[in-house]
Amino acid sequence: MEWNWTVAIWAGACLVIGSLILGKKKKGSQGRRPPGPPGWPIIGNIFDLGVDAHQSLATLSRKYGPVMWLQLGATNTLVVSSAEVAMEMFKKHDLAISDRAINEGFKTDGYDQASMVLAPYGTFWRMMRRIYTTELFTNNRIKATEEFRTKSMDKMLEWMWKDAQEKGSVEVARFIEIMNFNAIGNAIFSKDIVDPIFNRGTEFFTSTTQALELIIQPNVADFFPWLRWLDPQRVKKKMKPIMRRIISFSSSLVKERILDRENGKRNEKKDFLDVMLDFQGNQLDGESAKLSERNISVGIQELLQAATDTSTSTIEWAMTELLRNPKIMRKVEAVTASSSLIHTFEWSLEDGTTPDKINVNEKLGLTLRKADPLKVVLKLRSAAENVAKMDQ
Ligand SMILES: *[C@@H]1O[C@H](CO)[C@@H](O)[C@H](O)[C@H]1NC(C)=O
Repeated sequence: MEWNWTVAIWAGACLVIGSLILGKKKKGSQGRRPPGPPGWPIIGNIFDLGVDAHQSLATLSRKYGPVMWLQLGATNTLVVSSAEVAMEMFKKHDLAISDRAINEGFKTDGYDQASMVLAPYGTFWRMMRRIYTTELFTNNRIKATEEFRTKSMDKMLEWMWKDAQEKGSVEVARFIEIMNFNAIGNAIFSKDIVDPIFNRGTEFFTSTTQALELIIQPNVADFFPWLRWLDPQRVKKKMKPIMRRIISFSSSLVKERILDRENGKRNEKKDFLDVMLDFQGNQLDGESAKLSERNISVGIQELLQAATDTSTSTIEWAMTELLRNPKIMRKVEAVTASSSLIHTFEWSLEDGTTPDKINVNEKLGLTLRKADPLKVVLKLRSAAENVAKMDQ
């Protein structure tokens, strides 16, 4: 987390005001709470989060245990940091913890209400979950995506190879991102939606990165709700145009499909967009009869995002670790399938970089991405089939 001055200054100001108001007044009983570090009046433990919040929390939980209480400004926060306790929370207290604390930035244009990830537990959320579990995350659909995934992988290998020949080295994550994006994109739209050559869709990535940067920036309005109306850091204001660009990507594809369907063009096999457009709600408990166009666009944007970010960073980290451990890399090479990143190319680092010099610092986003994108030099393995494939 990038700690920034605005937050520090506002928190400091609140601290001063708070101390003046509270004076020497004793705090009343707070009931039974889990242990946690002592906090300042009003601002509480905000400064305990430090520059890298995930690391500070790990350090604190070593001292205070797997269930810890932090007061972040006016926000009470329970920090759970063991798998067992997390399991118990999800199993036994799922309803109590099902709603999220939502960053102000996400409230732009009511995004948080239409998003499956952020929406409060209720009729709309249950309806979305029903669609996803019965239509999307089913064995059949996942099996059906195998073909897309293989196709997207082959294309990615080709693009990487072209780029490597032009530029000498390639930024691995960029291509993995595009591959993941197209694999999920095919399940939703029945077509490739990004192409590195025509730069189509890259605006989506750029805007998404900008949005994430705004969201993870500490925002005083999240800590002190009474400052929300002020939007002191202009997070919501800056977020608006970015959010609109992001949603407009999926929204234009949804609009295109609606037109196609009106003109009688139908897919042979229903893809996920068809499923969402054809969805019929049961109209119980205020459930709507259909999904609105905007809700579909937001839902799809979220699926694209979720499917891309996590797997991209996982693969990038895995490749990084392999390059740092050449022995393990050789073992992996021996067992991977023929059409894979590792089997197709011989990987090496750019001139001047050695395995021990790879920067393994992380950057907090939706997931923990590498702070420095991994760059590699590629050589085609001599397997005749590869060479033939790439020379086509
Ligand atoms: C669309 O999403 C909103 C939440 O933003 C929800 O309240 C509403 O019921 C949904 N409507 C439709 C038609 O999907």
